[in-house]
Amino acid sequence: MKGIILAGGSGTRLYPITISVSKQLLPVYDKPMIYYPLSVLMLAGINEILFITTPHDQESFRKLLGDGSDLGCKFEYAVQNEPNGLAEAFIIGEEFIGDDKVALALGDNIFYGNEFGSLLRSKINVEGASIFAYPVRDPQRYGVVEFDKDKKVISIEEKPEVPKSKYAVPGLYFYDNKVVEYAKKVEPSDRGEKEISTINEMYLEAGELEVGVMTRGMTWFDTGTVESLDDASEFIRVLQNRQSTMIGCIEEVAHQRGFIFKSGLQKSIDRYGKSKYGAYLKDIVANL
Ligand code: G1P
Repeated sequence: MKGIILAGGSGTRLYPITISVSKQLLPVYDKPMIYYPLSVLMLAGINEILFITTPHDQESFRKLLGDGSDLGCKFEYAVQNEPNGLAEAFIIGEEFIGDDKVALALGDNIFYGNEFGSLLRSKINVEGASIFAYPVRDPQRYGVVEFDKDKKVISIEEKPEVPKSKYAVPGLYFYDNKVVEYAKKVEPSDRGEKEISTINEMYLEAGELEVGVMTRGMTWFDTGTVESLDDASEFIRVLQNRQSTMIGCIEEVAHQRGFIFKSGLQKSIDRYGKSKYGAYLKDIVANL
């Protein structure tokens, strides 16, 4: 399975912060936001990843992440010229995806939870589509899933004014190869975007959509507003400092998944200078 991280968009809800900086490069506590979705795909065991950015931000992402070889991964880059919607990722990424299955992670979504890694790894052989649902207080901001009383999915709607449930769809999607053809059929919505929810509706109609409900043991943040960005930073800060483990440490995940070995970890330490992040990596190496 391949992975795509969508890190485009103009981030206007975070202005003036994002006038000259990509939203997905902003800090979430002690590391760039993009580290979190990247660590999620890596945790799933995916090491071929395409980053889709705006044309002007691509250079900064390359500077930060390179070709992925330091992480035992293969990173590629592509641009989305206009914020035409999430579904476009599969058209832009068509060649990269080839005949494989693909997971899409949104560059501004953060996940944390017990056994999350095994949950992710159970999705990589997906037939059809596999997405999640997460109860939130403000479902109208998201794609919304409606279930019947037997927990069967009845509908998916993008940002409905009157949501049919409290279940939002987080920005982490697993698809088989049909997603590329489905994406080409998506018509822009009223807000002018090719919606990922339309792709999910297509899978639903084909009887091939699986929706896993994330329960209260899972944490999901989207960081699209100043409040949610600040909440996510605070959450990471509190948890990391209490547990003395890091969330979203890409080198640690690369090592855990067998993408790199002790020597690779050792090599990456220098890059992080005198930061706490570097010290954390040193500690891991020292305890191996
Ligand atoms: C996008 C999707 C939406 C999903 C959300 C998750 O919304 O369109 O279905 O629930 O991401 O973060 P957007 O970021 O475009 O507002």
